[in-house]
Amino acid sequence: MINLNGQLAIITGGARGIGEGICKVFCNAGAKVAMWDVLDTGEETAQKIAADGGDIFFQKVNITDPESIQKAVDEIMEKYGRIDILINNAGIIRDRSFAKMGNDEWDAVVNVNLNGLFYTCKAVVPHMREAGYGRIVSASSVNAYQGAFGQTNYSATKAAIVGFTKSLCKEVGKYGITVNAVAPGFIKTEMTDSMPEEVIKAGIQQIPVRRIGTPEDMGNCYLFLASKEAGFVSGTCLHANGGALAV
Ligand SMILES: NC(=O)c1ccc[n+]([C@@H]2O[C@H](COP(=O)([O-])OP(=O)(O)OC[C@H]3O[C@@H](n4cnc5c(N)ncnc54)[C@H](O)[C@@H]3O)[C@@H](O)[C@H]2O)c1
Repeated sequence: MINLNGQLAIITGGARGIGEGICKVFCNAGAKVAMWDVLDTGEETAQKIAADGGDIFFQKVNITDPESIQKAVDEIMEKYGRIDILINNAGIIRDRSFAKMGNDEWDAVVNVNLNGLFYTCKAVVPHMREAGYGRIVSASSVNAYQGAFGQTNYSATKAAIVGFTKSLCKEVGKYGITVNAVAPGFIKTEMTDSMPEEVIKAGIQQIPVRRIGTPEDMGNCYLFLASKEAGFVSGTCLHANGGALAV
């Protein structure tokens, strides 16, 4: 049974969806969780998880703002003196066909999904390096591998995250830090809840395990890669899509 007792995990984009699922799974495994989100509702989500016994606190952080990141990291280091795990889960979509996509939609997605990842790792890695231990796991996507209509911006960033992961792992492995990614498939979140039922049903028919994934399914994938037990796994991307895309 994997446990994260005594470890501090930062989970970005934890206010809802997959990030909320990761927060719950990590709290159940005994971690102290610093949930980051740009949404104020992160506070409510954190309080709900805490009411169920989770050791979690919310920090309002915009990952596109290096100052906001640094402030949160400084607070954690001052109070708890450690960051063992960083889950780069925050991400956005701004879907539009390539013909219609504007620079604003391209830039917004690159800024959150890619620049945000860089800024966050820049602030956290020095502390992991000093401690001689760290686990970094970032959100890629099945669409990094198969592409999707209207997602040239999103798919490009999610593929870039895999390249970033493979390169960073080569630089920091000697400090006891592993760097991996998870590529979720079709997952039940607020986003998919708004889809028509027939579309969801048709999507499920394409998934060999015949169901949609849950935030908790994803939480368990992140949990393994964030564990001490996964110490020999680095530079990889775990595909969690129910077999829909065999990579
Ligand atoms: N849901 C899926 O089916 C699916 C599939 C593949 C990959 N993913 C990836 O998994 C991750 C989570 O997806 P989700 O469906 O839960 O999305 P979501 O939109 O429900 O949650 C993303 C969270 O990130 C936060 N966020 C956005 N911009 C931020 C910023 N600048 N700073 C801090 N927080 C910010 C949002 O406020 C939100 O709470 C994303 O990176 C997404 O690309 C999701």
